[in-house]
Parts: sequence; structure tokens; C-alpha cells
Amino acid sequence: MPYIKETSIRRTQDAADIVQIIESYGVKLRRVGGNYTGLCPFHREKTPSFSVNPSGQYFKCFGCGAAGGVIKFVELIERLDFVEALTNLAQRVGVELEYEKSNRGVAPHAETVSAGDHKKALYWANKTALNYFRRALADSPADAYLRGRGFTTDTLAAWQLGWAPDDFHGLLDFIRDELTRQNAGAKFDRAVKFAVEAGVLRRHEEKQNYYDAFRGRVIFPIFDARQQPVGFGGRVLEEKPEAGGKYLNTAETPLFKKGRLLFGLNFAAREIGERREAIVVEGYTDTIMCHQYGVRNVVATLGTALTPDHVRLLRRHVGQDGKVVALFDADAAGKKATARAREIFMREDAPLWILSDLAVKDAAEFLPKFGAEKFREFLNTAREAFDCLLQEYSWQNFGNDLSAKTAAVLNVMRVVNLCPNAIRRQMMRQRVALLAAVDENLLPQPEGGGLREDGSEDENGKVLPTANSPLPASIVPKMAGRQKAEKTLLRCMLASPEWSARIVDLYPPDDWHFPDLAAAAGVMREAWAAGRPDLATLTAATTNEEVRGALLGLLDPAPPPTADEMNFILARGENEARARKKQRLQEEIRRAALNKNEAELTTLHAALRDQQARGRG
Ligand code: UTP
Ligand code: MN
Repeated sequence: MPYIKETSIRRTQDAADIVQIIESYGVKLRRVGGNYTGLCPFHREKTPSFSVNPSGQYFKCFGCGAAGGVIKFVELIERLDFVEALTNLAQRVGVELEYEKSNRGVAPHAETVSAGDHKKALYWANKTALNYFRRALADSPADAYLRGRGFTTDTLAAWQLGWAPDDFHGLLDFIRDELTRQNAGAKFDRAVKFAVEAGVLRRHEEKQNYYDAFRGRVIFPIFDARQQPVGFGGRVLEEKPEAGGKYLNTAETPLFKKGRLLFGLNFAAREIGERREAIVVEGYTDTIMCHQYGVRNVVATLGTALTPDHVRLLRRHVGQDGKVVALFDADAAGKKATARAREIFMREDAPLWILSDLAVKDAAEFLPKFGAEKFREFLNTAREAFDCLLQEYSWQNFGNDLSAKTAAVLNVMRVVNLCPNAIRRQMMRQRVALLAAVDENLLPQPEGGGLREDGSEDENGKVLPTANSPLPASIVPKMAGRQKAEKTLLRCMLASPEWSARIVDLYPPDDWHFPDLAAAAGVMREAWAAGRPDLATLTAATTNEEVRGALLGLLDPAPPPTADEMNFILARGENEARARKKQRLQEEIRRAALNKNEAELTTLHAALRDQQARGRG
């Protein structure tokens, strides 16, 4: 184990200016005498108790007690350990860390001596177990299984996949042999104790003996950022009820914190940094298969939901304007995981992209079947999470069911209201209002009020309904919202002849709520037929004062709708047009059934099926 030289640490500290580093995390500092003060980034406060001393290069918060030098600051704010923070900082200030073999300097992962020794023992237990699993792989059922699924020899070696033989004492004996070989047989009892704590051995309380935790399973080792094994996932060869869970994973240990680790990050980190993009998949096998096919910015969670720590870790790796993409299984569980990921990213005010509708179950199945090129094509279809949410909403066919529609709007708003960033929340609200044709002021505010950027409370939140409070009757589409939406349609029509034609197509005059706006749409379409309409020609084309007013209203300073908004409006229009058509067909079917007109019934049923198929497509 190499040690980082003391001189490297000092050079890093010298090169980093603590004030600059702290400000780079968005902490606003004000000079007061020889010091700087500001709001503490480690706890919520309204008056500054966070102080930075530039000459001594240290910080201290009189509110929460956080204190230390520049490395400590990076440790706390990025949630890193000392060596990780040092490495991170050295990179930023351009210091190349030097290592030495002697035990002078700082040992990686040594917080205090005893904690360090403890962790070292746990590392040892994991490493020994990994050696055992690795050696057992050759000619094992796991080897055949993995190759059968398309994993190559190189992959098996790189990911250090293994086999836990179906034997209660295999690892136990291996540990004894290892220690004996090193003339350290006396350490056996202690070693077993640590192996139990590391989760690779178990203790049988009644028989008072020890046995292997992983038996008869394919082993997927899980490494930390320093390439050390910290835990294992063990997969059964065949999924049978009597085999127990499909995967057995190491339980939480001081080294193995599922909420903060990502499977494959040790292999993916570099590529993620270079591409500024990380893809999060669900399974171990998905991760490995992606890497094998050259898509190397892929990681997975460890069979648990994404946590805020994961979000921060990913954000740190992709960088400020980087991209995190979720690719979860194409089944109900995957859909649920996607929804959860969307919420957790929203809570962290971090952008997320979503990949959905993979042709097969998961990436591990897709790649051997269709290859890397098709997979990359698929990766290009990622969409921003909030866009997806809106699209899911607009795909739902509410027909005349206003309560279902209301529930759906509230559900979208529940997610929006998780976002702590008032500005982003506002932008999302506007889009929901537009899409659902609901007055924006009626959309629920975050529970207990939204936090403003400065941390003060949004007084509106106290009065307005929240997702859980009873529905006010007035939340169903209000005329003001409808009017705004119809004006937006007009604005879209103004954008291009294509948009104009599509909107006229989707929204026949009878569907408009405001006759003057419907008439204005007609004027607009005529104007396009004659050439590019400007507002002067438009308003000259009608003598009706109300229609003219409606057209002039388009001059108001509201920004023109974005292509996204237009797309959503069109999607909604198509949706509604489909719903209308279906309703018409159903009425005709009822009539034909009453008249016992068999021939017509057959045709109508076929038309309805066709319509429904299109709705799904
Ligand atoms: P999957 O069932 O999708 O497994 O669970 P997989 O990794 O894709 O494996 P294959 O391709 O079917 O062989 C996804 C992830 O959920 C966790 C594991 O991390 C797994 O990789 N998981 C699943 C568990 O932890 N325990 C289980 O029993 C099942
Ligand atoms: Mn899977």
C-alpha cells in the first residue's frame, strides 16, 4: 500500500487558497476585518456564523462547530475521506501527488490508528475471500454460466468475477491455510472475527461455529474508489424458489455503504469524467456487459434505490453541467425505480435524463443480441426527466374524466414541488399549467411553503393546497388557464405554416372555448395561405374588434413558446383528437348495436381497434 508523501500534502495545502476554494462551492463570503464570514454550508442558518481565516487558512463555524483546513472543508462538503479529498484538491490546484513505500506519510484510509487498523482488517478479509472466489472460478459452474451469457475471458479477469463453491467450510479452510502459510496461524481467531464482520463468514450461534456466507453462487466483487474489494454480490445459478434470493449481497459494514457506493465506478470514473456523462443501470450484469461492449461510463446501484449521496457522487463525477442518465429494466420494477430516481434527483435539484422502452429486459440482454452500435443509438434517445414526466402525463387519455385528470396534474405537481430551487420550480409550474390548461395560481405549492433561494419561506405555501390536502373544486381547468392555452396555440400558429396547419388540424373551431380566439386562428390560417403573416396584415384581415383584440394580444411580451412546449401542445392535441374519435366510434357502435347492423358493427369495431392500437403506438 503506497503512502502519500507529507510534502505532497503540504504543497497541495499551499497551492489551494481556502477562501477561493470555499467560494467555489457557492458560499458567499464577506470580508470583515482580517476574516471572511458567510452563511455556513454545513447547516441551515439565517445569520452568518461561518468564518474563514485567510492568513491561517482555516475555517470555523460558530453555529455547528465544523472547523478545519482546506482539505477538511473539501472532505465535509464533498463527503469524501481524507485521501479522496486530498486527491481531489491536488487535481484542482495542479499538484501531482507523490507516494512513498515507507510508512512515513499518511496511510490511505487511516482516520485514527485504531479505526484504520480495523478497516485494514476488514479489507484483508474481503481480499482473502476474493482470492478464494477467484481461484474457484476455473472450470466451475459459474465459469460456464458467465460464458454462456456472453462474458469474455478478459471481462471475467478485469471484473474479477468468481465462484463460491457449494461448501460450508471452503473459505474458512482457505483462511486457515493462508495464515498457516504465512506462519501466522495464531491470528486465526481474530481473522475469523473480522471475516464475520466483513460478511464473508457467518457464525452459527447454537453450534457455536462458523461457516461460509456465500455458497453455490456466482460472485460479483464490489470495489471502492481505490480498487479494493469491499463487498460481494452473489448470484444463484438458477432462479429457483428454494435457492433463496437471486442475489445475496454483503450487508452494511464500515467499508460497504450501499447508499454511497456504485458498482463499477472504479472502472467507469475516468470515462464518466471525460464524457461528462454517467449512465446508471440496475444490475451488476448490465454494468459489466456495457463495459465489455465499450460503453464504459456505466455504473449500477447495489440493489438499492438511489440515495442523495449517490446523486451528489454522480454529480461530482460528471461535473457541473454534466449528465446523469438512468437506464432501468423494462419491467414494472424498473419503471418504479425510474420514478424514484426522478424524485430523488428533483429533491437534490440535479438534472436527470431517462432512457425508457428498451426493446428487451435490460442492457445485459440487449448488447449480445443487438450489438454496441444499436445500443448507442438507443442511448441517444435519453430525455430529460421532467420532459418525460410531462409526456407521460400528456399520453394519458383522460377523455371527460376530470377527476382522473386532476389527480394526474396533482401527481405531476407533487414531483415538481420536491424541487428546492424556487426558480426551477416556477419554470416547471408554468409548463404544467400550459399543458394541463390550468391556471398556474391554482397549482399546489410545496408543503409548508417553498423555500426561497435565501432560505426564507414562501408565504403562499401556507394558503394554497398541497398534494395531500382536499381538492378545491376550482382546480379543474379554469377559464383563465384555458384562455392562456388557446392564446399559446395562436402563438404557435404564428411560428410557421407547418405549425399553423397542424394546430388547425388538431383543434377544429368547435373545440376552442373562446370563439374570438377560434376566429383568430381562422384568420391566421388564411394569412399563412397568402404568405408570411405579420401582425399588421393579421389585424387588417378582420373587422371584428374582439378577434383583432385577440390577435393584438399576441404582441404581449410573454416569450414565444419553446419547441418543447409546442410539442407538448401537439401531443395533447393529438391525444384529445384521438379521444374524440374514439368517443364518436363508441357512440356509432352503440347505435349500430341498437339497429342490429352486423356489417357496420364489424367495420366499426375494426376501426376502434385500429384507433386504440394507434393510441398505444
Ligand atoms: P436483476 O434481477 O435485474 O438482476 O436485479 P441482474 O443484475 O440484471 O441479473 P441478471 O442479468 O438477471 O442475471 C438488478 C439488481 O438488483 C439487485 C442486484 O444488485 C442486481 O444486480 N438485486 C436483485 C439484489 O440485490 N437482490 C436480488 O435478489 C435481486
Ligand atoms: Mn436486470
